[in-house]
Amino acid sequence: MNNQDRQDSVRKIRKRIEIHVGIAIAALVVAMGVGAAGFVYWGAYNVSALQQHTEPVFTILNLALDRSIRQRAEEIEPPSLTSQMAEQGRLIYQQKCVQCHGAPGVGRDDVGKGMTPVPPNLAHTAKAKGAAEVFWSVKHGIKMTGMPSWQFTFTDEQIWTIVAFIEQMPEMSVAEYQAMNANDSEDPAPPRDVTTASTSAEVRNAAEPDSERGKLALYGYGCIACHRIPGTVGPHADVGPPLKGIGERRYIAGVLANTEENMVHWLRHPTEVDPLTAMPDLGVTEQDARDMAAYLETLR
Ligand code: HEC
Ligand code: HEC
Repeated sequence: MNNQDRQDSVRKIRKRIEIHVGIAIAALVVAMGVGAAGFVYWGAYNVSALQQHTEPVFTILNLALDRSIRQRAEEIEPPSLTSQMAEQGRLIYQQKCVQCHGAPGVGRDDVGKGMTPVPPNLAHTAKAKGAAEVFWSVKHGIKMTGMPSWQFTFTDEQIWTIVAFIEQMPEMSVAEYQAMNANDSEDPAPPRDVTTASTSAEVRNAAEPDSERGKLALYGYGCIACHRIPGTVGPHADVGPPLKGIGERRYIAGVLANTEENMVHWLRHPTEVDPLTAMPDLGVTEQDARDMAAYLETLR
């Protein structure tokens, strides 16, 4: 065999190996695809809320969650958190958070039990994480955990008061927490005074309606649970009418002329327009209604 022949046969063998490896990889990809599809289709994955992930999966998910939040919180500059703020934050915490997260000496309510992931102890969180990360988590919520976003419930200023309270939790004894609560009136004032607060929300009132923010609000208020809305992803339940083309319809709910003012009115107080409507009052603020109306207006 001369040199040239040897090189040719080496090349041929290499070519054959490449083809075989190629076929093997393609077969593997197809098999994985079929496996994954079957796994989904035959319901092999147990979605029970009591079926904890395996330790490695749990660790990776937590890492992904922590990294994601840290990345997004980097730009946030916390204000100085005073004890006066913490006192306001405590009232909100008791109404909206304690049922899931508990408090010093207070266990999780039925809602917060039996969840996976379990709502964490926030005294621990306050030690492990920075105020900006806590703020981000509360404002934006955490997908696929059950932690809601509160940005359409509270202003940024209000969220900082909650953060101020959480920051105090690591040092708070059960007795101290009980003493704080002892002075509360029977019915602590509902914290949701977004419309009167002198806040960024108020400043924004003068601003042009923001349709992008309006689109986010459609998720924030759970509109997508009842309506099919172009540009959003949801359960397509059709409890309410699909909103495709709502921007060019003559009437809202068949009774109001479709103007911007009327749309804002409908979104905020549908039961004032029609006491028997199945569309509930969702506590929509003026600004949020304007932003949502701006988005709906684009649907043609
Ligand atoms: C319906 C139950 C529920 C309610 C109500 C709720 N949370 Fe959560 N919260 C969760 C769950 C579940 C997680 C995510 C657990 C995880 O990190 O895996 C979470 C995560 C968090 C985190 C991030 C914790 C961490 O260690 O990174 C913060 C901060 C937080 N919640 C604060 C609040 C505040 C403040 C409120 C009230 C305004 C609130 N939560 C209301 C269930 C809830
Ligand atoms: C619990 C289910 C439910 C939720 C949540 C809900 N809606 Fe509705 N919506 C309805 C129903 C039902 C109607 C029809 C009302 C009627 O005709 O009396 C309706 C009507 C409407 C209409 C008028 C549609 C038309 O064809 O004229 C608009 C616009 C609308 N909803 C927007 C929203 C927005 C935006 C949100 C979130 C802030 C929302 N809805 C939340 C059930 C819901």
